[in-house]
Amino acid sequence: MRRLLLLAAALVAVPSWLVLAQPGGTTLEALTNPQEDPSILPAGHGQEEVFYACTACHSTAIIRRSHFSREQWDGLMDWMTDRHGMSPLEGDERKMIVDYLAQHFGPQQAPARGRNPFLN
Ligand code: HEC
Repeated sequence: MRRLLLLAAALVAVPSWLVLAQPGGTTLEALTNPQEDPSILPAGHGQEEVFYACTACHSTAIIRRSHFSREQWDGLMDWMTDRHGMSPLEGDERKMIVDYLAQHFGPQQAPARGRNPFLN
């Protein structure tokens, strides 16, 4: 039992040690996504705002693989705030970000099922 506890403690300690050990105080985000910058997102009004508001906690990959309606993106903003501690997005900034997400990562961008991917 004692051995198990030690093992558990070591498992918890290792990730923070890995982050702290990086020269120059590199964050985990930078470690996992060293080359991401706003241009990884489609160009458009809100591109930079989305990049900087959304990559504090995760890379853009989780955004780029998503296809949601405007309502779903809007609801997701609240979920990210309530559940994950994102600073609340409000007013014009929220509108710009949700518009951008809905326009570039809307349901219509999802590959249609059954369509031959080589013919379009
Ligand atoms: C404060 C941290 C934080 C910020 C800032 C943040 N997110 Fe997240 N996000 C999370 C966490 C944590 C998860 C859950 C990851 C998981 O489940 O693996 C998540 C998950 C997601 C998902 C996946 C949801 C699903 O069910 O498939 C999407 C899409 C997403 N975030 C988009 C965004 C967008 C867009 C922004 C910027 C407006 C953003 N996030 C900003 C923490 C954050």
